Amino acid sequence: METVGVVGLGIMGAGIAEVFARAGLRVIGVDIDEGAVSRGRGHLESSTGKAVERGRLGAEERAAILGRISLTVNREELADADLVIEAVPEVMELKRALFADLDRICKPSTVLATNTSSLSVTTMAANTSRPGRVVGMHFFNPAPVMKLVEVVTTVLTDDGLGGEIAELATRLGKTPIVVGDRAGFVANRLLLGYLNQASRMLEEGVASRDAIDTAMRAGAGLPMGPFQLLDLIGLDTAYEICEVLFYETKDRRHAPSPLLRELVTAGMHGRKSGQGFHPRTATPTAPPGAGPKVAVTTIGLVGDGPDADLLRERLDTAGFKTTDGHQDADVVLAVTAPPVVDVAVRLPNPERVVGVRLVGAEVAEVVLTVLTAPEIATVVQDLIRVMGRTPVACADRAGLVVNALLLPYLNDAVRMVESGYASFADVDTAMKLGCGYPLGPFEMLEAFGLETVRDGLRALYAEYREPSFAPAPLLERLVAAGMKDVKQ
Ligand SMILES: NC(=O)c1ccc[n+]([C@@H]2O[C@H](COP(=O)([O-])OP(=O)(O)OC[C@H]3O[C@@H](n4cnc5c(N)ncnc54)[C@H](O)[C@@H]3O)[C@@H](O)[C@H]2O)c1
Repeated sequence: METVGVVGLGIMGAGIAEVFARAGLRVIGVDIDEGAVSRGRGHLESSTGKAVERGRLGAEERAAILGRISLTVNREELADADLVIEAVPEVMELKRALFADLDRICKPSTVLATNTSSLSVTTMAANTSRPGRVVGMHFFNPAPVMKLVEVVTTVLTDDGLGGEIAELATRLGKTPIVVGDRAGFVANRLLLGYLNQASRMLEEGVASRDAIDTAMRAGAGLPMGPFQLLDLIGLDTAYEICEVLFYETKDRRHAPSPLLRELVTAGMHGRKSGQGFHPRTATPTAPPGAGPKVAVTTIGLVGDGPDADLLRERLDTAGFKTTDGHQDADVVLAVTAPPVVDVAVRLPNPERVVGVRLVGAEVAEVVLTVLTAPEIATVVQDLIRVMGRTPVACADRAGLVVNALLLPYLNDAVRMVESGYASFADVDTAMKLGCGYPLGPFEMLEAFGLETVRDGLRALYAEYREPSFAPAPLLERLVAAGMKDVKQ
């Protein structure tokens, strides 16, 4: 392939044009009118200009890249392109009409590709006279930076074309995975289920927006909290992808949360509109010197295991008196699995009982039961800060915040592999390179332990009765077989 067409020169199209031109291909970029073409040129100039400023691209190289790209409003110029990829807005009617037109204009061998995030590639293919030469080529934002390309083939795609497009993606310096045509492919399907669930969790009052963001970023080690990420993706885009996912899966977890719908209707689309889950301006932080004040001396500890030992050691070092007796304790920390209220009702002062679960090296989930006194909740969060961790206050629910969001995501990944849609390796690659996760879901699963994840899912299912929280049959079988590594 030597000449490619890119239709739609917005955020994605301009980035994709740059990627092709950087790899030495000739690019014909098309948009709807002169204004849009000049905005596309602006994107290209500024993106490559920044790369020069940062020393990642030479000035001559930049000139050569821009020299390989010609921009036009005339689609007919795409007649001899070897491949045409579209990145027009995510509206099926628009894409179908465009594919019909490209089918008329382009030579019979031209491959027609779509950068759609969630729409059916099969529907677009079936609308042309060359359904065998239509594929998805899903780049991630920003296209010049993100390494993943999901190559989407359909039941109509010619044998071998998926492999050819994957080779092309490799030539572009990307890492391709080849998957079938299912809503959301791999990365968005797994990501949006998790983000939507975070939105429901906020709505149900399990924890605050900032607590959930902190838990998933500093606790679970993800690059961003779910609400920070939703604001970045755009709430309108996230809403639309959830709708498409729900339409296909009928999984309630994909049905956009009512809170997401309300924010979208209110025009709060995230960073692009200035406001989304997070407001336009950041919340002011506490003034300097306003450190935690902890007016307790004796702390009761319930539970055993490494977390309880670590807590005891830290509290002793910080000068508190820890005790296994609870009668005289100012507060009682229950290092036990939820429901913590089970422990609280059995102790003399249930209003002084708070659950604690350490997450990673920086965060502690602080579990407040319906019986916990508000001043005790404040004191325990201060105690956690004294120990150098960030407290994440949450309700006494199975999985608390981190496990309630992470385990169903891992379960979804297992189900995806179980259904034969993608391989273990492809799913890990997709989440690491498409979403910037430090580990793929199967790497996470192994790190947590299959049995721990299975047990956590059982507890979540028992609490919420959500069908998709029930451990995937493959996970149950792997645990029953005593496997430690899913890829064996
Ligand atoms: N933004 C993302 O993060 C992202 C990531 C991956 C995939 N995508 C997908 O990429 C596609 C484009 O998204 P975007 O965010 O770049 O959109 P965008 O709104 O930034 O750009 C769309 C461009 O298409 C042009 N356009 C509209 N109708 C056209 C037509 N009939 N012919 C030619 N050009 C036309 C517009 O003028 C605009 O320049 C969508 O399918 C989206 O789902 C987006």
